[in-house]
Amino acid sequence: MTEPKPLPQLPLRTEQLVLRRFEASDLEAFHAYHSLPETARFLPREAKSLSQSMETVGRYANFEFEKEGDWVALAIEAADSPGLLGEVVLKWLEGCGQAEIGWSLAPEARGRGVATEAARALLKLGFEDLGFHRIDAKLDALNTASAALCERLGMRLESRQVDKWHYKGEWATEVVYAILEDEWKARKPA
Ligand SMILES: CC(C)(COP(=O)(O)OP(=O)(O)OC[C@H]1O[C@@H](n2cnc3c(N)ncnc32)[C@H](O)[C@@H]1OP(=O)(O)O)[C@@H](O)C(=O)NCCC(=O)NCCS
Repeated sequence: MTEPKPLPQLPLRTEQLVLRRFEASDLEAFHAYHSLPETARFLPREAKSLSQSMETVGRYANFEFEKEGDWVALAIEAADSPGLLGEVVLKWLEGCGQAEIGWSLAPEARGRGVATEAARALLKLGFEDLGFHRIDAKLDALNTASAALCERLGMRLESRQVDKWHYKGEWATEVVYAILEDEWKARKPA
């Protein structure tokens, strides 16, 4: 996959969610959960300052998906109740047909299957619309909530690299989960 594939029309709709472009009005809710140390614990950087949240929301609102290194970043909202619940992101990696998925939810949105439903929609977009061959997720081995999410999505545990990263003042073991396009298609009900 070397040529850009056009993004489908946004928003995406699932049974209970709307996945849409970020807007400037998401800043307050985005900053509320990304300024929390518990949200940042397994993300590469520290909890965000307001200016970092402003920069990220601006970047997410204006994302373009045209070349390797670009990101799809979608705001998650409940279909029946406006308000930002979190985000799912998909990064176009270097190499043929490769992408990486990621996610974060506001604490009050966790524990209800919101990330599972949103990530499933983003995998569908990645495989069926954008034509990726393989999508992975790179996690801190201590991030059991993300590992459980990968398992719910049908992703395979592919590797475990001890002390791969050094962040938040300590060494961290990286686990990689992945799913191939064929595996995704095989999971779909007939
Ligand atoms: C990672 C993260 C998004 C996972 O959120 P989550 O709420 O655990 O995941 P889901 O929204 O899919 O919800 C799953 C939970 O809801 C429950 N659930 C209820 N209804 C469900 C449904 N219809 N489908 C799936 N799960 C459902 C599941 O049993 C599970 O509960 P459990 O945690 O008690 O086992 C969240 O912990 C987070 O934002 N963490 C901080 C940021 C972060 O670490 N990001 C990832 C970096 S790699």
